[in-house]
Amino acid sequence: METLGIIGVGHLASYFIAGLRNAGDKRRILLTPRNAEIAANLAQRYECEVLSDNQSVADQADIVLLATRPAHALVALQALTLRPSQLVLSVVAGVSIDDLRSFAAPADIARCLPLAPAEVGAGATPLLPNNPRAQKLLETIATVVTVEDEKTFELAAVASCTSGWVFQIIAELQSWLEKAGMSQQQARTIAIETFHGAAHLAKMQPDLDLQQQADTIGTEGTYTKFFIDQFRQAQGFQALHTSGDNLLNDLLKTADVE
Ligand SMILES: NC(=O)c1ccc[n+]([C@@H]2O[C@H](COP(=O)([O-])OP(=O)(O)OC[C@H]3O[C@@H](n4cnc5c(N)ncnc54)[C@H](OP(=O)(O)O)[C@@H]3O)[C@@H](O)[C@H]2O)c1
Repeated sequence: METLGIIGVGHLASYFIAGLRNAGDKRRILLTPRNAEIAANLAQRYECEVLSDNQSVADQADIVLLATRPAHALVALQALTLRPSQLVLSVVAGVSIDDLRSFAAPADIARCLPLAPAEVGAGATPLLPNNPRAQKLLETIATVVTVEDEKTFELAAVASCTSGWVFQIIAELQSWLEKAGMSQQQARTIAIETFHGAAHLAKMQPDLDLQQQADTIGTEGTYTKFFIDQFRQAQGFQALHTSGDNLLNDLLKTADVE
């Protein structure tokens, strides 16, 4: 199994490692020491090794996961000496593959965006470009959707950002139910299962047309249709489209994609 070195040990690195170990992946995982507390915790919980600096991690790794915040990514990458046999896998949002490639050379480069549900092997990640080594690693923790151009990757990044938004929507539903009189546990269960149930049905029935399913449930005169209409009138659906457009423009500008 290829040794994984992680540059930037924070939130993403934590759930990435947890996802691998929860899936039974026993590869060697090497961590940079900068965030000492998180690194020590991960080392102890998930049998990782904390090395003395970034270059030591890069020297011993077959795959280098670049997981710093965007502002730090190119500086961290530029400081590394890499080999042609290595793969740098960047999870950094908004930093283009061309910029990464010029700093990662002579190593190979790929981009992905696994999300927090990867900790339990759920959710999707885009992968740019097709790369069998990255695919093999990532499919342990998420559904991999390979894309061949940066614009499509940034589109997937917008969807990735809605992952946090989905948690917010579930929390809003729970909060509303509680305010209306439900116990915290009941509200939590109902809110989660409402979203999980719909997504699970869609996942288990690949031919299910989502719009048709919504129309079938929300027929004229039903409470579901009443709720959908209220939500539409309050610009709820339009807000999603507008937020997506604005975020996509921002990501394309940041990654300098035409
Ligand atoms: N979190 C998510 O849900 C998520 C989802 C998809 C993609 N991503 C991407 O993942 C990346 C990391 O996000 P995150 O939420 O994990 O951020 P984070 O929690 O802030 O972790 C980043 C870590 O990188 C460290 N770091 C910064 N410069 C470094 C350097 N030169 N060498 C070694 N370590 C360095 C930081 O240390 P300091 O704290 O000392 O600066 C911090 O510990 C981002 O680029 C983001 O776009 C995140």
